[in-house]
Amino acid sequence: MIYDFDKVVNRKNTNSKKWDPETLDEMFGESEALPFWVADMDFEVAKSIKDAVLKAAEHGIYGYSKRPDSYFDAIINWTKKRFDWEIKKEWIVYTPGIVPAVNYIIQGFCKKGDSILIQEPVYYPFARSIKNNGCNVENNPLKFNGEYYEIDFDDFETKVKDPKVKIFILCSPHNPISRVWTKDELKRLGKICLENNVLIVADEIHNDIVYPEHKHTIFGSLSEELAMNSIICTAPSKTFNLAGMQASNIIIPNEKYRKIYESILEKNSVGSQNPLSIAAVEAAYKYGEEWLEQLIDYLQSNVKLIEDHLKETLPKAKLINPQATYLGWIDLREYDTNGQDLERTISIEGKLALDGGTWFGQCGDGFVRINYACSKTLLKEGLFKLSNIINKKYK
Ligand SMILES: Cc1ncc(COP(=O)(O)O)c(C=O)c1O
Repeated sequence: MIYDFDKVVNRKNTNSKKWDPETLDEMFGESEALPFWVADMDFEVAKSIKDAVLKAAEHGIYGYSKRPDSYFDAIINWTKKRFDWEIKKEWIVYTPGIVPAVNYIIQGFCKKGDSILIQEPVYYPFARSIKNNGCNVENNPLKFNGEYYEIDFDDFETKVKDPKVKIFILCSPHNPISRVWTKDELKRLGKICLENNVLIVADEIHNDIVYPEHKHTIFGSLSEELAMNSIICTAPSKTFNLAGMQASNIIIPNEKYRKIYESILEKNSVGSQNPLSIAAVEAAYKYGEEWLEQLIDYLQSNVKLIEDHLKETLPKAKLINPQATYLGWIDLREYDTNGQDLERTISIEGKLALDGGTWFGQCGDGFVRINYACSKTLLKEGLFKLSNIINKKYK
């Protein structure tokens, strides 16, 4: 089946947070800003997913639900086929989202005053979750060489050696810089953490959307030792546009760690998964591959569109080497701007809702993040708004 990603689907007045005027006003100071921010896609899901949800909805009773074996088989088969990692049913633990999972992990594995290591610029709810749980954010900033980002391993090792650091949150692939970490990089990070008794929490929510020249390695597949020292956070939410379904699958091979994690779920009474999401997730992993392959092709052509547009209309801007995700990290620092002002100008005067670079850490100053998982019609409109406002305000 051929999917039409060019189709423009109206999301206004559908309770979409991304498109909601009140939310846009709150977040960007402009209720009519055109939205390219929060990471969900403006594409309809695969037909097989919609059919499965409709079938489940048709039943008419939406009581407390249990995940059937076929649900776990779908995840196990997907993980084997796409990442060559064999996982067991009992390793897979449910949580409504990855951010809740990160919070539960902090609650289970840290005490107040402990430190957790992250690599900025990075998905900002990590720092928020760390602070909300009374822990300290330790940062191993990624090094930018003008073309792409790299890990500063010396700094990483120094930070991991601090006995207060209990967890390292790895973002793989990395949001917002859209890097796919190589096996060697992952192994090196893993070794340093193992030597210093630091637990690795690998947030792999974006691991299915990877461009053909790159290969994602699931952290737990690197070695038995690393599998035993890690918690792998996966979800169909980004891959299949199911974020609102609130279903993630946390993979914890280490039984001792799993028990700790499950005890926190128990304490918070997190258990039963919503029946529509059970149907959606199973269908996604069973039948969604063809849709995903076409999606990746479409996203790649959107990358090309952004690059061409920037070359023509904003020659000093640079889209940083997109290897994965549908989130583009644009460097606007060669324009004469200054931080917050740039972000506010884009949203209020440009009427464009992009994630501000500083949301991801101060090192994001002068950058913006664009969610390009939308039709080309919409993307072009957004890019014109961006070049108009930058060219009007800055040199
Ligand atoms: C790296 C990363 N982790 C987690 C999330 C959100 O996870 P959830 O909605 O499952 O809490 C996102 C969403 O953009 C993300 O980019």
